Amino acid sequence: MLLAAGYTGAEPLIDPLCGSGTIAIEAALLARRRAPGLTRRFAFQRWPGHDAGNYQEVQAHARESELALAPAAIVASDADAGAIEAARENAARAGVAGDLRIEQVALRDAHPPPGAGLIATNPPYGVRVHADLPRLYADLGELARRSGYRIAALVPDRRPAGRSEVAWERAIRTRNGGLNVELLLAR
Ligand SMILES: C[S@@+](CC[C@H](N)C(=O)[O-])C[C@H]1O[C@@H](n2cnc3c(N)ncnc32)[C@H](O)[C@@H]1O
Repeated sequence: MLLAAGYTGAEPLIDPLCGSGTIAIEAALLARRRAPGLTRRFAFQRWPGHDAGNYQEVQAHARESELALAPAAIVASDADAGAIEAARENAARAGVAGDLRIEQVALRDAHPPPGAGLIATNPPYGVRVHADLPRLYADLGELARRSGYRIAALVPDRRPAGRSEVAWERAIRTRNGGLNVELLLAR
């Protein structure tokens, strides 16, 4: 999602509906240039011809190339106290707690850092929240207009997204949590 939105870590990012913090944490890992899979083991490490010494050098080089801190601000906010607690725990476990500003705040009061940046988010969906969706998408569009940020939103149904009053373009189709979703982008 972040790569499809053109995020490199050089611009500020906010997820104002952050839930457990997945998107902001991934953003911090990308911004820090953390090599994917750096801490996991791979099946090839058990191959007879595997050169363990060479692989350790590759891993060491990847670690040395990592930035100590994300170069631009990353904000994760949510109205729900439980979500914020989970996001804090997950960020600490991923080793990026120092890269994120995590705060309990409603979407309409979210305050992105100054400068052009990216709102990257996965708005709520489902029958339970259906009545609130038009308001929520209107608030999302308003946040983009007052901050000057572009938006990347992962949505299962693009109809309520029209309430944002931004020019959405579909970047990719994929599946999330067992649902067909699309990534919408707007600048
Ligand atoms: C689909 S979840 C986001 C999941 C998230 N990407 C993750 O990795 O866990 C949507 C989130 O939006 C939050 N939310 C819903 N309405 C909100 C509002 N008006 N202001 C702030 N957060 C809101 C919910 O608390 C929920 O955590």
